[in-house]
Amino acid sequence: QLIILDFGSQYTQLIARRIRELHVFCEIHPYTHAPQLAERLRAGDDSLRGVILSGSPCSVREADAPNPDLGGILGRVPVLGICYGAQLLAHQAGGEVLPATIREYGRARLSSLDGESPLLAGLHQDTQVWMSHGDTIKTLPADYEVIASTPEVAVAAYKLPGQPTYGIQFHPEVTHSTEGKQLLENFVVGICGCAQSWTPDHFVDSMVEALQNTIGPDDQVILGLSGGVDSSVAALLLHRAIGPRLHGIFVDNGLLRQNEFAQVLQAYEGLGLNVTGVQAAPEFYAALAGLSDPEAKRKAIGRTFIEVFDREAQKVQGARWLAQGTIYPDVIESVSVKGPAVTIKSHHNVGGLPEKMNLKIVEPLRMLFKDEVREVGAALGLPEVILHRHPFPGPGLGIRILGDITPEKVDLLQRADGVFISLLKERGLYDTTWQAGAILLPVQSVGVMGDERTYERVVALRAVTSVDGMTADWAHLPYDFLAEVSNKIINQVRGINRVVYDISSKPPATIEWE
Ligand code: XMP
Repeated sequence: QLIILDFGSQYTQLIARRIRELHVFCEIHPYTHAPQLAERLRAGDDSLRGVILSGSPCSVREADAPNPDLGGILGRVPVLGICYGAQLLAHQAGGEVLPATIREYGRARLSSLDGESPLLAGLHQDTQVWMSHGDTIKTLPADYEVIASTPEVAVAAYKLPGQPTYGIQFHPEVTHSTEGKQLLENFVVGICGCAQSWTPDHFVDSMVEALQNTIGPDDQVILGLSGGVDSSVAALLLHRAIGPRLHGIFVDNGLLRQNEFAQVLQAYEGLGLNVTGVQAAPEFYAALAGLSDPEAKRKAIGRTFIEVFDREAQKVQGARWLAQGTIYPDVIESVSVKGPAVTIKSHHNVGGLPEKMNLKIVEPLRMLFKDEVREVGAALGLPEVILHRHPFPGPGLGIRILGDITPEKVDLLQRADGVFISLLKERGLYDTTWQAGAILLPVQSVGVMGDERTYERVVALRAVTSVDGMTADWAHLPYDFLAEVSNKIINQVRGINRVVYDISSKPPATIEWE
């Protein structure tokens, strides 16, 4: 196992991704865990094979910059400092780190490569690397050895004497560093000796075994299923571990897509899962009646969900566990070195239920990134309709009907959205789009159909490309395609006479309209 100590860089998760792509398991810990790692090493824990120190928005010259004691780690396992990590190692040993006088940002070429260095094995002279830093290492402690430079950066990579500790100024994890993956492989596999055994099948086998060891032989487990990838993969893992002692609960909140409830329930049943479908639309509509404020709607939906879920869960005799589809990005203790992270929207979950029912939490996916969840899902035979389903918000169409919600509006939006999504699929555009849907606007506009004037609703189409939903670009769907969707919606969905396309990116807009 490899551990990345995070100093708050925007690239930390990317380092972890790259290492996992090498089929090596790694975890991200906040830099404040340095003493714990030192303690593990002191106690002789040989499962920890190496440590990477991430970059940071801070400068080692700032008095309050992160500055953990690395004494118990250095020399005991291989260490690689990247950017801030490299500056910190140099700074702590008496080297000089100064603001860079020229801009050290963007592409650069590594020259004077030390061909003997195991860190740089297989890299070519003048290989392109990505620099992004405001500080630079001016002088290294006397016995440190420079192993690569660029025309502007004398100390681009260095090694400590007598131990496998390295520092590099550039970012091997970004794709602009064309041989960065080779460098990471040299470190992780060559220098640290980590086994490349982290594969979906390996994960499934070891997680199933771990679940069988954790969950008692008579314990029943409850899981809320949403039709999304995460909860579905969590269900399959648990099903493989404990069979029908997993009780899935899938709630129709009346805010799902057209036909989704039946379709997904059928898929779950086809997989042999023990799932109860609960039709609770009227309860949700009642709770939402008259509410227009997005946060108030989210709260009403969240609260009703807990009520319905709780009621169903109480019916399961011997329930001891609540399983959740939490994934790694939700788990990582984010290091905020520059002020606290802000919650922009409240996302609902089954908060409060575990305490109330005295349930323990089990989260089989908490170590996986989203695309790893998909790989595991594929290894478990999850059908395509669920595996490659677009993300869909918990409050569903409730936040895609702007203003108050009525069953009639839901029906209108489901039909318009249904046309959009099925045409995306038919025209082969669904999988290249990260997320798409229709939004019912709270305005009516004039139109003419035949000899008659109409005064009907407007639907906005939203489609984005994105990697993780944190940033997104509006999808550049072909005009002909948009024309086809618009015609079909206006012709088939009575009550809609105008369709518009949202061409805003995130930021500054968001993916959802509420
Ligand atoms: P935004 O609109 O913030 O959306 O750009 C980013 C991603 O989060 C989803 N989203 C939600 N998911 N409950 C959820 O479970 C919510 O209240 C919620 N609001 C937004 C959104 O669909 C997109 O994938």
